[in-house]
Amino acid sequence: LEIMKLMKIKEMTIDDYEEAYSLWAGIEGMGLRSLDDSREGIERFLERNSHTCFVCRNRGASPGRGVLAGAILCGHDGRRGYIYHAAVHDDYRRRGIGRDLVNQVISALKKEGIKKVGLVVFSHNERGNAFWESLGFDRRDDLYYRDLSLDVKNI
Ligand SMILES: CC(C)(COP(=O)(O)OP(=O)(O)OC[C@H]1O[C@@H](n2cnc3c(N)ncnc32)[C@H](O)[C@@H]1OP(=O)(O)O)[C@@H](O)C(=O)NCCC(=O)NCCS
Repeated sequence: LEIMKLMKIKEMTIDDYEEAYSLWAGIEGMGLRSLDDSREGIERFLERNSHTCFVCRNRGASPGRGVLAGAILCGHDGRRGYIYHAAVHDDYRRRGIGRDLVNQVISALKKEGIKKVGLVVFSHNERGNAFWESLGFDRRDDLYYRDLSLDVKNI
C-alpha cells in the first residue's frame, strides 16, 4: 500500500521511450514490430496521440523521475480508440497499476469525445485476457480480425 502512494501516472513522452521499450521487449509474446516500435515509430504515434498514452513511475525507487513500472499506448481516429502495448513490469503486477493505466486512457478518450475503445490480444494470453475481462472489455466471438501489411512486399 505504501508503495502505491509513490506511483505516479503521467502522459507518456518520447523521453520515456528507452524504458518503455525495454519493458515491452522483456515480455514474451508482446509482438514488437521493428518499424512501428522504433523510436521514430513511437515518436510519430505520441505526436498524433499525445494525451492518450501513459506511463506509471515508481518515484520511491530511485532519485529523479523514478523507475518505469508500466506503460500503455492508445490512439484514436476520431471514431474509436485502440489500445496497444499495455504492460506492467513483473515486480509491480497485481497492485492495480494496469487498471489505473486503462482508467487514465478511458478518461482521456472521453475528454476527446470518443465513445468506444478496442484492442487486440492473443487468444492464448490467459493473464492478459483475465485482465481485460475484469475491466469489462467484451470478447467478440462474432468477428474475425483481418489486416493487410502495407510494407514493400505487398505494394
Ligand atoms: C496484463 C497486465 C498489464 C496486468 O497488469 P496488472 O497491473 O498486474 O493488473 P491489475 O493489478 O490492475 O489487475 C486488475 C485485475 O485484472 C485481473 N488480473 C490481472 N492479472 C491477472 C492474472 N495474472 N490472473 C488473473 N487475473 C488477473 C484481476 O481481476 C485483477 O484484479 P485483482 O488483482 O483485484 O484480482 C500485466 O500482467 C502485463 O503486463 N502482462 C504482460 C503484457 C500483456 O499481456 N498485456 C496485455 C495484452 S495486450
